[in-house]
Amino acid sequence: MTAPTDPAAPPRPAADDFGALLAAARARVDERLGQWLRPRVAAAAEISEEVGTVAAAVYGLALRGGKRMRAALVAAAFEAWSSEGARGARAPAGAPAWSACEPAMMAIELLQTYLLIHDDWMDDDDVRRGGPAVHVLLREKLGALALGDAAAILAGDLASGYAQEALLETDLPTERVLRAARAFARIQVEVVTGQLAEMCAAGRPAGDAGLPSVETVHALKTASYTVTGPLLLGAALAGADDARAAELLRFGRPLGIAFQLRDDLLGVFGDPSATGKPVWNDIRQGKRTALVTELRGDARAEALLARVFGRADAAEADLEAVVRAMEESGARGRVEARVRELSAEARRALDVMAPTMSEQGRRWLMGAVAALGERST
Ligand code: IPE
Ligand code: MG
Ligand code: MG
Repeated sequence: MTAPTDPAAPPRPAADDFGALLAAARARVDERLGQWLRPRVAAAAEISEEVGTVAAAVYGLALRGGKRMRAALVAAAFEAWSSEGARGARAPAGAPAWSACEPAMMAIELLQTYLLIHDDWMDDDDVRRGGPAVHVLLREKLGALALGDAAAILAGDLASGYAQEALLETDLPTERVLRAARAFARIQVEVVTGQLAEMCAAGRPAGDAGLPSVETVHALKTASYTVTGPLLLGAALAGADDARAAELLRFGRPLGIAFQLRDDLLGVFGDPSATGKPVWNDIRQGKRTALVTELRGDARAEALLARVFGRADAAEADLEAVVRAMEESGARGRVEARVRELSAEARRALDVMAPTMSEQGRRWLMGAVAALGERST
Protein backbone atom coordinates (compact mmCIF):
# COMPACT_ATOMS: atom_id res chain seq x y z
CA MET A 1 0.00 0.00 0.00
CA THR A 2 1.46 3.38 -1.00
CA ALA A 3 0.41 6.36 1.09
CA PRO A 4 -0.04 9.72 -0.66
CA THR A 5 2.96 12.02 -0.25
CA ASP A 6 2.68 14.86 2.24
CA PRO A 7 5.33 17.54 1.53
CA ALA A 8 5.64 18.35 5.26
CA ALA A 9 6.34 14.72 6.18
CA PRO A 10 9.86 13.37 6.66
CA PRO A 11 11.29 11.52 3.64
CA ARG A 12 10.76 7.77 3.29
CA PRO A 13 14.08 5.96 3.66
CA ALA A 14 15.37 3.98 0.67
CA ALA A 15 14.46 0.32 0.72
CA ASP A 16 17.46 -1.63 1.83
CA ASP A 17 19.93 0.85 3.14
CA PHE A 18 20.65 1.30 6.85
CA GLY A 19 22.66 4.40 5.92
CA ALA A 20 19.54 5.96 4.43
CA LEU A 21 17.50 5.04 7.50
CA LEU A 22 20.22 6.56 9.66
CA ALA A 23 20.15 9.81 7.68
CA ALA A 24 16.35 10.01 7.84
CA ALA A 25 16.29 9.16 11.56
CA ARG A 26 19.03 11.70 12.26
CA ALA A 27 17.20 14.49 10.44
CA ARG A 28 13.98 13.68 12.23
CA VAL A 29 15.45 13.25 15.72
CA ASP A 30 17.56 16.40 15.42
CA GLU A 31 14.54 18.43 14.39
CA ARG A 32 12.11 17.00 16.93
CA LEU A 33 14.57 16.93 19.78
CA GLY A 34 15.40 20.59 19.21
CA GLN A 35 11.71 21.53 19.20
CA TRP A 36 11.02 19.39 22.23
CA LEU A 37 13.93 20.62 24.34
CA ARG A 38 13.78 24.36 23.61
CA PRO A 39 10.71 25.09 25.78
CA ARG A 40 12.22 22.96 28.55
CA VAL A 41 15.44 24.98 28.48
CA ALA A 42 13.34 28.16 28.58
CA ALA A 43 11.36 26.81 31.56
CA ALA A 44 14.61 25.96 33.35
CA ALA A 45 15.96 29.47 32.72
CA GLU A 46 12.85 30.90 34.39
CA ILE A 47 13.83 29.12 37.60
CA SER A 48 17.25 30.76 37.60
CA GLU A 49 20.03 31.67 35.22
CA GLU A 50 22.20 28.78 36.46
CA VAL A 51 19.45 26.19 36.09
CA GLY A 52 18.97 27.49 32.56
CA THR A 53 22.70 27.13 31.93
CA VAL A 54 22.59 23.48 32.98
CA ALA A 55 19.54 22.73 30.81
CA ALA A 56 21.21 24.55 27.90
CA ALA A 57 24.29 22.33 28.36
CA VAL A 58 22.05 19.25 28.06
CA TYR A 59 20.50 20.74 24.93
CA GLY A 60 23.93 21.55 23.52
CA LEU A 61 25.26 18.03 23.89
CA ALA A 62 22.02 16.33 22.83
CA LEU A 63 21.96 18.29 19.59
CA ARG A 64 25.69 18.27 18.88
CA GLY A 65 26.32 15.78 16.14
CA GLY A 66 25.13 12.43 17.49
CA LYS A 67 25.06 9.71 14.83
CA ARG A 68 21.52 8.71 15.99
CA MET A 69 22.36 5.09 15.43
CA ARG A 70 20.40 4.00 18.49
CA ALA A 71 17.34 5.94 17.33
CA ALA A 72 17.65 4.29 13.91
CA LEU A 73 17.69 0.85 15.57
CA VAL A 74 14.47 1.66 17.44
CA ALA A 75 12.94 2.60 14.07
CA ALA A 76 14.27 -0.53 12.34
CA ALA A 77 12.83 -2.86 15.00
CA PHE A 78 9.53 -0.98 14.98
CA GLU A 79 9.34 -1.40 11.22
CA ALA A 80 10.37 -5.04 11.44
CA TRP A 81 7.57 -6.10 13.76
CA SER A 82 4.77 -3.64 12.98
CA SER A 83 1.71 -5.23 11.56
CA GLU A 84 0.27 -3.50 8.51
CA GLY A 85 -2.73 -2.42 10.58
CA ALA A 86 -0.63 -0.74 13.23
CA ARG A 87 1.35 1.13 10.60
CA GLY A 88 -1.59 2.42 8.64
CA ALA A 89 -3.41 3.54 11.74
CA ARG A 90 -0.62 5.62 13.21
CA ALA A 91 1.78 7.02 10.62
CA PRO A 92 0.69 10.32 9.05
CA ALA A 93 0.25 10.22 5.27
CA GLY A 94 3.62 10.05 3.53
CA ALA A 95 5.56 9.65 6.79
CA PRO A 96 7.64 6.56 7.37
CA ALA A 97 6.02 3.78 9.38
CA TRP A 98 8.40 4.45 12.22
CA SER A 99 7.21 8.02 12.86
CA ALA A 100 4.90 6.62 15.59
CA CYS A 101 7.93 5.63 17.64
CA GLU A 102 9.79 8.94 17.34
CA PRO A 103 9.33 9.80 21.05
CA ALA A 104 11.17 6.57 21.90
CA MET A 105 13.85 7.48 19.37
CA MET A 106 14.31 10.81 21.15
CA ALA A 107 14.27 9.05 24.51
CA ILE A 108 17.14 6.72 23.68
CA GLU A 109 19.21 9.66 22.43
CA LEU A 110 18.47 11.59 25.64
CA LEU A 111 19.47 8.54 27.65
CA GLN A 112 22.72 8.51 25.71
CA THR A 113 23.17 12.22 26.53
CA TYR A 114 22.75 11.47 30.24
CA LEU A 115 25.19 8.56 30.13
CA LEU A 116 27.82 10.53 28.25
CA ILE A 117 27.66 13.49 30.64
CA HIS A 118 28.33 11.24 33.63
CA ASP A 119 30.80 9.08 31.73
CA ASP A 120 33.00 11.99 30.69
CA TRP A 121 33.16 13.21 34.26
CA MET A 122 34.01 9.70 35.53
CA ASP A 123 36.58 9.16 32.78
CA ASP A 124 37.93 12.68 33.14
CA ASP A 125 37.54 13.25 29.40
CA ASP A 126 37.46 16.90 28.37
CA VAL A 127 36.19 16.49 24.83
CA ARG A 128 32.95 14.99 23.53
CA ARG A 129 31.55 15.11 20.03
CA GLY A 130 34.22 17.60 19.08
CA GLY A 131 33.29 20.08 21.83
CA PRO A 132 33.83 20.48 25.57
CA ALA A 133 32.48 17.76 27.87
CA VAL A 134 29.53 19.05 29.90
CA HIS A 135 31.41 19.09 33.23
CA VAL A 136 34.20 21.13 31.60
CA LEU A 137 31.68 23.59 30.19
CA LEU A 138 29.81 23.92 33.49
CA ARG A 139 32.98 24.37 35.54
CA GLU A 140 33.73 27.32 33.31
CA LYS A 141 30.21 28.75 33.13
CA LEU A 142 29.52 28.41 36.85
CA GLY A 143 33.01 29.58 37.76
CA ALA A 144 33.85 26.87 40.30
CA LEU A 145 35.12 23.33 39.97
CA ALA A 146 32.99 21.64 42.64
CA LEU A 147 29.84 23.49 41.61
CA GLY A 148 30.50 22.70 37.94
CA ASP A 149 30.94 19.01 38.75
CA ALA A 150 27.78 18.89 40.89
CA ALA A 151 25.91 20.66 38.11
CA ALA A 152 27.20 18.10 35.59
CA ILE A 153 25.86 15.23 37.70
CA LEU A 154 22.53 17.02 37.81
CA ALA A 155 22.70 17.76 34.07
CA GLY A 156 22.94 14.00 33.50
CA ASP A 157 20.00 13.41 35.86
CA LEU A 158 18.03 16.07 34.02
CA ALA A 159 18.69 14.39 30.67
CA SER A 160 17.55 11.11 32.24
CA GLY A 161 14.31 12.74 33.38
CA TYR A 162 13.77 14.22 29.93
CA ALA A 163 14.37 10.78 28.41
CA GLN A 164 11.59 9.24 30.50
CA GLU A 165 9.25 12.11 29.74
CA ALA A 166 9.85 11.73 26.02
CA LEU A 167 9.30 7.96 26.06
CA LEU A 168 6.01 8.31 27.90
CA GLU A 169 4.74 10.71 25.25
CA THR A 170 4.53 7.81 22.79
CA ASP A 171 1.02 7.74 21.36
CA LEU A 172 0.58 3.99 20.97
CA PRO A 173 -1.49 1.45 22.95
CA THR A 174 -0.75 1.71 26.68
CA GLU A 175 0.35 -1.90 27.12
CA ARG A 176 3.02 -1.42 24.45
CA VAL A 177 4.27 1.79 26.02
CA LEU A 178 4.37 0.04 29.39
CA ARG A 179 6.50 -2.75 27.94
CA ALA A 180 8.77 -0.19 26.36
CA ALA A 181 9.08 1.62 29.70
CA ARG A 182 10.06 -1.67 31.37
CA ALA A 183 12.67 -2.26 28.69
CA PHE A 184 13.92 1.30 29.22
CA ALA A 185 14.34 0.77 32.96
CA ARG A 186 16.18 -2.50 32.30
CA ILE A 187 18.58 -0.72 29.94
CA GLN A 188 19.51 1.67 32.74
CA VAL A 189 20.03 -1.11 35.28
CA GLU A 190 22.34 -2.92 32.87
CA VAL A 191 24.33 0.07 31.73
CA VAL A 192 24.85 1.41 35.25
CA THR A 193 25.98 -1.97 36.60
CA GLY A 194 28.25 -2.36 33.57
CA GLN A 195 29.79 1.06 34.12
CA LEU A 196 30.32 0.19 37.77
CA ALA A 197 31.97 -3.13 36.92
CA GLU A 198 34.26 -1.37 34.47
CA MET A 199 35.19 1.42 36.87
CA CYS A 200 36.00 -1.04 39.64
CA ALA A 201 38.19 -3.13 37.31
CA ALA A 202 40.14 -0.11 36.02
CA GLY A 203 43.87 -0.28 36.56
CA ARG A 204 43.76 -3.85 37.86
CA PRO A 205 45.88 -6.45 36.07
CA ALA A 206 44.11 -7.96 33.08
CA GLY A 207 44.18 -11.48 34.55
CA ASP A 208 42.89 -10.51 38.00
CA ALA A 209 40.60 -13.30 39.24
CA GLY A 210 37.16 -12.18 40.30
CA LEU A 211 36.78 -9.63 37.52
CA PRO A 212 33.98 -10.13 35.02
CA SER A 213 35.16 -10.82 31.47
CA VAL A 214 35.63 -7.86 29.16
CA GLU A 215 32.76 -9.11 27.03
CA THR A 216 30.43 -9.37 30.02
CA VAL A 217 31.17 -5.73 30.81
CA HIS A 218 30.76 -4.76 27.15
CA ALA A 219 27.39 -6.51 27.02
CA LEU A 220 26.16 -4.64 30.09
CA LYS A 221 27.60 -1.21 29.56
CA THR A 222 27.31 -0.99 25.77
CA ALA A 223 25.22 -3.69 24.09
CA SER A 224 22.34 -2.90 26.49
CA TYR A 225 21.76 0.69 25.47
CA THR A 226 23.31 0.61 22.02
CA VAL A 227 21.68 -2.40 20.42
CA THR A 228 19.52 -4.73 22.51
CA GLY A 229 17.71 -1.93 24.35
CA PRO A 230 16.79 0.10 21.24
CA LEU A 231 15.64 -3.10 19.48
CA LEU A 232 13.52 -4.17 22.45
CA LEU A 233 11.98 -0.68 22.58
CA GLY A 234 11.09 -0.72 18.89
CA ALA A 235 9.74 -4.27 19.04
CA ALA A 236 7.67 -3.57 22.18
CA LEU A 237 6.15 -0.47 20.59
CA ALA A 238 5.36 -2.43 17.43
CA GLY A 239 3.43 -4.93 19.54
CA ALA A 240 5.84 -7.86 19.07
CA ASP A 241 5.28 -10.68 21.54
CA ASP A 242 7.64 -11.87 24.27
CA ALA A 243 9.11 -14.64 22.12
CA ARG A 244 10.85 -11.93 20.12
CA ALA A 245 12.74 -10.60 23.12
CA ALA A 246 14.93 -13.68 23.56
CA GLU A 247 15.72 -13.80 19.85
CA LEU A 248 16.54 -10.12 19.82
CA LEU A 249 19.06 -10.63 22.59
CA ARG A 250 20.78 -13.35 20.57
CA PHE A 251 21.15 -10.83 17.75
CA GLY A 252 21.79 -7.65 19.73
CA ARG A 253 24.28 -8.95 22.27
CA PRO A 254 27.01 -10.03 19.82
CA LEU A 255 26.41 -6.95 17.70
CA GLY A 256 26.62 -4.65 20.73
CA ILE A 257 29.82 -6.32 21.91
CA ALA A 258 31.26 -5.99 18.39
CA PHE A 259 30.37 -2.30 18.50
CA GLN A 260 32.24 -1.82 21.78
CA LEU A 261 35.25 -3.82 20.54
CA ARG A 262 35.33 -1.47 17.56
CA ASP A 263 35.24 1.40 20.08
CA ASP A 264 38.21 -0.14 21.91
CA LEU A 265 40.08 -0.33 18.59
CA LEU A 266 39.18 3.26 17.67
CA GLY A 267 40.29 4.45 21.11
CA VAL A 268 43.83 3.34 20.22
CA PHE A 269 44.03 3.28 16.43
CA GLY A 270 41.25 5.74 15.49
CA ASP A 271 41.47 9.25 14.13
CA PRO A 272 40.38 11.72 16.84
CA SER A 273 39.18 14.19 14.20
CA ALA A 274 36.74 11.52 12.96
CA THR A 275 35.70 10.05 16.34
CA GLY A 276 35.50 13.41 18.17
CA LYS A 277 37.32 11.79 21.09
CA PRO A 278 40.96 11.86 22.18
CA VAL A 279 43.09 8.84 21.41
CA TRP A 280 44.92 6.66 24.00
CA ASN A 281 42.85 7.88 26.95
CA ASP A 282 41.62 4.33 27.58
CA ILE A 283 45.21 3.32 28.29
CA ARG A 284 45.95 6.37 30.44
CA GLN A 285 42.78 5.66 32.39
CA GLY A 286 43.70 2.00 32.90
CA LYS A 287 40.55 0.81 31.13
CA ARG A 288 40.46 -2.97 30.75
CA THR A 289 39.69 -3.07 27.06
CA ALA A 290 39.90 -6.12 24.82
CA LEU A 291 43.21 -4.83 23.45
CA VAL A 292 44.68 -4.76 26.94
CA THR A 293 43.52 -8.26 27.88
CA GLU A 294 44.86 -9.55 24.55
CA LEU A 295 48.37 -8.49 25.61
CA ARG A 296 48.24 -10.98 28.47
CA GLY A 297 51.04 -13.51 28.54
CA ASP A 298 53.31 -11.41 26.35
CA ALA A 299 55.94 -10.43 28.93
CA ARG A 300 57.52 -7.65 26.85
CA ALA A 301 54.18 -6.05 26.03
CA GLU A 302 52.99 -6.38 29.64
CA ALA A 303 56.13 -4.61 30.86
CA LEU A 304 55.56 -1.78 28.40
CA LEU A 305 51.92 -1.56 29.41
CA ALA A 306 52.79 -1.37 33.10
CA ARG A 307 54.64 1.93 32.45
CA VAL A 308 51.53 3.69 31.14
CA PHE A 309 48.44 1.78 32.28
CA GLY A 310 46.26 3.95 34.50
CA ARG A 311 48.75 6.85 34.42
CA ALA A 312 47.30 10.18 33.41
CA ASP A 313 50.84 11.55 32.97
CA ALA A 314 52.13 8.69 30.79
CA ALA A 315 54.84 9.80 28.35
CA GLU A 316 53.87 9.95 24.69
CA ALA A 317 56.83 7.77 23.64
CA ASP A 318 55.85 5.06 26.15
CA LEU A 319 52.27 5.13 24.88
CA GLU A 320 53.51 4.80 21.30
CA ALA A 321 55.54 1.74 22.32
CA VAL A 322 52.43 0.08 23.79
CA VAL A 323 50.41 0.87 20.69
CA ARG A 324 53.15 -0.72 18.55
CA ALA A 325 53.14 -3.76 20.84
CA MET A 326 49.36 -4.08 20.41
CA GLU A 327 49.97 -4.23 16.70
CA GLU A 328 53.06 -6.47 16.66
CA SER A 329 51.83 -8.97 19.25
CA GLY A 330 48.75 -9.63 17.15
CA ALA A 331 46.40 -8.20 19.81
CA ARG A 332 44.85 -5.81 17.31
CA GLY A 333 44.41 -8.60 14.76
CA ARG A 334 42.75 -10.86 17.33
CA VAL A 335 40.29 -8.15 18.37
CA GLU A 336 39.52 -7.42 14.71
CA ALA A 337 38.91 -11.14 14.16
CA ARG A 338 36.60 -11.28 17.17
CA VAL A 339 34.58 -8.37 15.73
CA ARG A 340 34.12 -10.37 12.52
CA GLU A 341 33.13 -13.49 14.48
CA LEU A 342 30.54 -11.59 16.54
CA SER A 343 29.16 -9.91 13.42
CA ALA A 344 28.73 -13.35 11.84
CA GLU A 345 26.97 -14.56 14.99
CA ALA A 346 24.59 -11.58 14.79
CA ARG A 347 23.87 -12.33 11.10
CA ARG A 348 23.04 -15.94 11.93
CA ALA A 349 20.68 -14.83 14.70
CA LEU A 350 19.03 -12.43 12.27
CA ASP A 351 18.47 -15.27 9.80
CA VAL A 352 16.68 -17.21 12.54
CA MET A 353 14.36 -14.25 13.25
CA ALA A 354 13.81 -13.41 9.59
CA PRO A 355 10.49 -15.27 9.13
CA THR A 356 8.89 -13.14 11.89
CA MET A 357 10.02 -9.81 10.44
CA SER A 358 9.14 -7.50 7.60
CA GLU A 359 11.62 -7.68 4.73
CA GLN A 360 12.44 -3.99 5.11
CA GLY A 361 13.21 -4.42 8.80
CA ARG A 362 15.42 -7.42 8.10
CA ARG A 363 17.40 -5.50 5.50
CA TRP A 364 17.92 -2.56 7.80
CA LEU A 365 19.14 -4.80 10.61
CA MET A 366 21.43 -6.64 8.21
CA GLY A 367 22.82 -3.25 7.19
CA ALA A 368 23.22 -2.33 10.85
CA VAL A 369 25.56 -5.28 11.42
CA ALA A 370 27.98 -3.87 8.84
CA ALA A 371 27.51 -0.27 10.00
CA LEU A 372 28.17 -0.98 13.68
CA GLY A 373 30.95 -3.51 13.39
CA GLU A 374 32.82 -1.83 10.56
CA ARG A 375 32.46 1.83 11.53
CA SER A 376 35.41 4.22 11.69
CA THR A 377 33.78 6.95 13.84
C1 IPE B 1 30.60 5.51 27.18
O1 IPE B 1 31.53 4.58 27.62
C2 IPE B 1 29.37 5.59 28.01
C3 IPE B 1 28.72 4.35 28.34
C4 IPE B 1 28.99 3.19 27.83
C5 IPE B 1 27.66 4.40 29.30
P1 IPE B 1 33.08 4.68 27.35
O2 IPE B 1 33.73 5.48 28.41
O3 IPE B 1 33.58 3.31 27.15
O4 IPE B 1 33.12 5.37 25.94
P2 IPE B 1 33.76 6.73 25.44
O5 IPE B 1 35.07 6.34 24.85
O6 IPE B 1 33.87 7.66 26.57
O7 IPE B 1 32.79 7.20 24.39
MG1 MG C 1 34.28 7.44 28.46
MG1 MG D 1 33.64 5.15 30.47
